Amino acid sequence: MVQIVPSILAADFARLGEEIERVEQAGATLLHVDIMDGHFVPNLTVGPPVVRSIRNITKLTLDVHLMISDPDKYAPMFIEAGADQISVHQEACPHLDGTLRAILERGIPAGVVINPATPVELLENVLGLVNHVLVMSVNPGFGGQKFIPQSLEKVRALVRRRRELGLKYWIEIDGGIEADNAGEIVRAGCDWLVSGTAVFRSGDTAAAFRRLREIAREAAGDRL
Ligand code: DX5
Ligand code: ZN
Repeated sequence: MVQIVPSILAADFARLGEEIERVEQAGATLLHVDIMDGHFVPNLTVGPPVVRSIRNITKLTLDVHLMISDPDKYAPMFIEAGADQISVHQEACPHLDGTLRAILERGIPAGVVINPATPVELLENVLGLVNHVLVMSVNPGFGGQKFIPQSLEKVRALVRRRRELGLKYWIEIDGGIEADNAGEIVRAGCDWLVSGTAVFRSGDTAAAFRRLREIAREAAGDRL
């Protein structure tokens, strides 16, 4: 099912509970939580205690995106804190197969993420393991950046490969998603569209979420 996945990076962290409630009431099912370590990306966000607090106030599926250099060390802490699914960057994992399997062994779905400069082909040997593939459509680290159009070709390639291999992973995209490009992204075959700025900085979070969802569902047509 095509989903809009609100990213709390653009939310007001002083009112995080209310912000999350707004998207939950508007009908979101997944919530994207960006974890940055100031090393893999040049920015810092939150750690396991904040994920635990979010876990305590929402039933949304917590889609935790680790933008950190040592996911093997920290993924268990985020799972312990209540993450429902975790994605790790291909670029951060020299032993990607092992990192994904370690997450799976702890009982939650694992996803793999690629940066704009990383080709889809590098994921070939882990596509059978993952629940979702996250295509970064901006260079990770900050919200509010411009969508990189070449990401659409990666989405199409992932759709093709999924069909050829008979696999079931979801295709997620993250960065610069807004009303103007959501339709095109869904038509390329994307299932989950992460959106921070366009949802939480719109002035009316619930309306912006619903509008994006309407555009996405219309573009999905029969794929719904
Ligand atoms: C960027 C993060 C994104 C970010 C997207 O590194 O991974 O999840 O919140 O924000 P927008 O929608 O503002 O591009
Ligand atoms: Zn993200």
